[in-house]
This record gives sequence, structure tokens and C-alpha cells, in this order.
Amino acid sequence: MNYKIHDLRLAEEGRRQLEWSEMHMPALMEMRKEFSSKLPLKGLRIAAVLHVTKETGVLARALKDAGAEVWLAASNPLSTQDDVAAALVEDGIAVFAWRGQSEKDYYDSVESILAAKPDILMDDGADLHAAVHSRYPDLRIIGGTEETTTGVTRLKALERSGKLRYPIVAVNNAKTKYLFDNRYGTGQSTIDGILRATNILIAGKCAVVVGYGWVGRGIAMRLKGHGASVIVTEVDPFKALEAVMDGFEVMPMAEASSKGDLFVTATGNRSVITKEDISRMKNGAILCNSGHFDVEIDVRDLEKESKGKREIRKNTTEYEIYGKKIYLLAEGRLVNLGAAEGHPSEVMDMSFCNQALSAIYIAGKRSMPAKVYDVFEEIDEKVAKQKLLSMGIKIDNLTEAQKRYMNDWESGT
Ligand code: NAD
Ligand code: ADE
Repeated sequence: MNYKIHDLRLAEEGRRQLEWSEMHMPALMEMRKEFSSKLPLKGLRIAAVLHVTKETGVLARALKDAGAEVWLAASNPLSTQDDVAAALVEDGIAVFAWRGQSEKDYYDSVESILAAKPDILMDDGADLHAAVHSRYPDLRIIGGTEETTTGVTRLKALERSGKLRYPIVAVNNAKTKYLFDNRYGTGQSTIDGILRATNILIAGKCAVVVGYGWVGRGIAMRLKGHGASVIVTEVDPFKALEAVMDGFEVMPMAEASSKGDLFVTATGNRSVITKEDISRMKNGAILCNSGHFDVEIDVRDLEKESKGKREIRKNTTEYEIYGKKIYLLAEGRLVNLGAAEGHPSEVMDMSFCNQALSAIYIAGKRSMPAKVYDVFEEIDEKVAKQKLLSMGIKIDNLTEAQKRYMNDWESGT
């Protein structure tokens, strides 16, 4: 049996979720029609490590309609939507994912999809690419894609080491990805995760956003919109300046830690909230993370130093530590996927058009040198145009005179 999921009987509910997403992913659905007639992935096997959500389900169906055999594992132990996983299995997709996987189950699932000897790899966080490079020296891969900032950072390090074996397209670096998914997608879904886990009133709270990259600025913007006073902590002087001029207070974590009611990390870095920071926090402070891995908050130290722990609400753990109560959401894993449903379909529509088109591009080329590539400009532009079209929005075109003017150095004052 080519699947391992929680419960196949959830398929009917999963099908309804997929139907809902399909309604809200018009750009990918339009491309899917084209894929079905041209079969650009015919005969190819794709192994994907992605969050197994309803939006990923729509992508998996599109890849299958393009002619691929699809093998899917989760990119986080907490992010799988079990009903969607069941519906996908009924669609003939080989799914190895369930919510609440142990770390061993998680890595076993990655091994299960690699055992299928895939031709193309799709990844979110680079665990799949890392597994191939460390344990599968004989696997011949045409190429791959990578969905997120942290994955791209890891793959660039692999490329620098000289050990990268096949071309990888950094889907994250498409404008139609990071400008929308990282910023507006995470901005909204992080708030969604915080609210589903806690039901706190954000208005009047002091929120500390750690990192002011694309994800951090989306979160800070939306927290401000809900009435929080927002502090940003950064290590990059340009991002810090941007945060100040966007109207946020900027200060080091050593100062912010005693002021915040709610802390959200979004750096892609480790130990950005340490036990020393926690020791300065107010009683009742709430901590959560929206960066890819659960390394941003020092959860192990929180566990070691605390005198007691209980799940006070679903996805909210209370720790008794340093004579106060501190709350951690979704175990310090991605709060938007662990405590909510991840980004809304409308935003994943663009991210996953980039995934599908990049896989098709790689399949068509076959002989690209082993490098990390940005998404090709024509793909990025195609996705933007398709999305605008699906929204019924028209834009202007440059006139011939404007094109000439923009390429001219002679005409001035
Ligand atoms: P980015 O590179 O644009 O921003 C990260 C920021 O964090 C940078 O400005 C950097 O200077 C800052 N930073 C690094 N170390 C820091 C520290 N010690 N203290 C304060 N700031 C620090 O990256 P991004 O696109 O915003 O992504 C951030 C993380 O979110 C990554 O792990 C990415 O993979 C993940 N991500 C998650 C989701 C989601 O669904 N939750 C979606 C997209 C990206
Ligand atoms: N990453 C963030 N949100 C997501 C979603 N809804 N589906 C797949 N990956 C995601």
C-alpha cells in the first residue's frame, strides 16, 4: 500500500476542503486545464515534502493532471490536515503524513517517498534535498524546487560547499511568492493561529516581532492593524531602519523581553528567544514562532527550567518557570500551520503556480547545471498576469514612446 495516513474514512471531508480551495485558487486551476491537455510531466515521478494542506492538495492534483506520479510527505509534524491526506490517497496520490507525527515518523515518511526513486523533488525547508545529499548517493534526480526562505538558505550553503548534485529552483525568490505568501499570507495566518490557540484580545497588547524580513513585516503590520503596540527586534540595520520608519519601536531583545505580552519570532535563525529573555518576561507572556523550524525559541531550555507544564488549551502549553507562567503556542513550531490552517488559498495560488511551472521547466530542460536558480522571470510574470486576470484586474501597457523614453539617455531637462 502506497500510503500511510491517519484515517482514510476522513476522505469525504477532505474532498470538500479541496473543493473550497480549488474555488479560491483560480490561477492554478486555469493552469491545470492546460496541464491536462499537454501532459508536461508525463512519465515523471515527483516526491514532495510540503505541508499537507488543502492548498497543497490542489497542487498535487494539478501535478497529477500534468501526467506526474505524485508522492507526498509532510514538511512539519504538526501541519498535516488528515482529511485532506485521506482525500488525496483516494485520488491516487501516495501520501505519507498525519498530524502529530513523531520526529522518527517524519523522517521515515521522507524515506518512504525517496524509496519510490523520484525524478523531481519539491521541498519546503530542504529536509528532502538534505536527505538525498546525505543518504542517497546513487539517486539520479533531474532537478528540484524549494518553497521557503530557510530551505533556500540551506541549499545555498550546500551549493557553496560544492556538493549540490542537481539544479534547484528557489520558488521562494519569485516576486509572486515572497511579496505575498511570506508577507500577507504569514501576516494573516499567524494572527489566525494565535487567535485559534488563545482567543486573546490583541488590541492594547504589547507585541514583540522578532525579525523584520518579509514574514516579520507582514506579522507586525497585521498586529498593528488589530490594535497592538508593536516592538520590532532586528540584527540588520537596514531592516531596523525600515521598521522605525514604518512606525514601530525598535530595540534589542534584552529590553523588549520585559515589555512584551506576546512574542512572535520570524527570523529563520536559532535561539532568538533564550531562557535569559524568558527570565525577564512578564507573568502570562505568550510565545510563538512563524519561522520554518522550531529552533527560534529555546524550547528545550523552557522544558528543562520549568517546574510544571500543562496544556491549558489546545495548542497552548503553560509553563511554570522562574516563579511565573509563560505560554508557548504549537510547541514553538510554525504557529500558523500548527494552530491554524496555514496561508489562505488565495495566496498559495501564486506560490503553487510557481512550484508547478518551475517543475515543468526543469522537466523540459533536463541538462541544467547543478545550481540554485531564482524562478525564471517569464514564469514569475506569467503567474502575476494570471492572478490579475483571475481577479478581473486590468493594468496599463507602456506606449511605444514610453518604451523609447525609458531606453534613452539623451533627453533630459
Ligand atoms: P527574511 O530573510 O526576509 O527575514 C528574516 C529576518 O530576520 C531578517 O531581516 C534578519 O535580519 C532577521 N534576523 C535574523 N536573526 C535575527 C535575530 N537574532 N534577531 C532579530 N532578527 C533576526 O526571511 P523571511 O522570508 O521573512 O522568512 C523568515 C522565516 O519564516 C524563515 O524561516 C522562512 O522559511 C519562514 N517562513 C514561514 C512561513 C510560514 O508559513 N510560517 C512562510 C514563509 C516563510
Ligand atoms: N505554507 C504556509 N501556508 C501553507 C498552506 N496553506 N499550504 C501549504 N504550505 C503552506
